[in-house]
Amino acid sequence: MAYSAKVMEHFANPRNVGEMKDPSGVGEVGNPKCGDIMRMYLKVENNIITDVSFMTFGCGAAIATSSMATEMIKGKTIDEALKLTNKAVMEALDGLPPVKVHCSVLAEQAIKSAVADYYRRQGIDPTPIVGEIPECEACHV
Ligand code: FES
Repeated sequence: MAYSAKVMEHFANPRNVGEMKDPSGVGEVGNPKCGDIMRMYLKVENNIITDVSFMTFGCGAAIATSSMATEMIKGKTIDEALKLTNKAVMEALDGLPPVKVHCSVLAEQAIKSAVADYYRRQGIDPTPIVGEIPECEACHV
């Protein structure tokens, strides 16, 4: 299966790439399957994600899914962002080849990790809200 036009477009012109100054939360996760790393920055005001950016050492699929994921959570509430699944991101990109599904999990988990950091910075235990950041299911197949 080849990459969809949307994946190629987000890979070629990724949105929201780069480091953020004074973020409200930063999350970093590694992909157990390939060892690649993703860092996600969030700016939160009144429970709304007003800005988001990412940096990754992941592959093209990781770049495209993170680009799309950042677009999907910008302007949303934290609750809405926590509900974003890698599946929804993949659907928005018209799918990924099966061997690349694990790459899309990086974005979902990095968002959760950044939200957890946001809560921790405010002295709030994130685990009841964010949950344990789960390992990628695709990585166990
Ligand atoms: Fe590592 Fe895609 S191969 S993120």
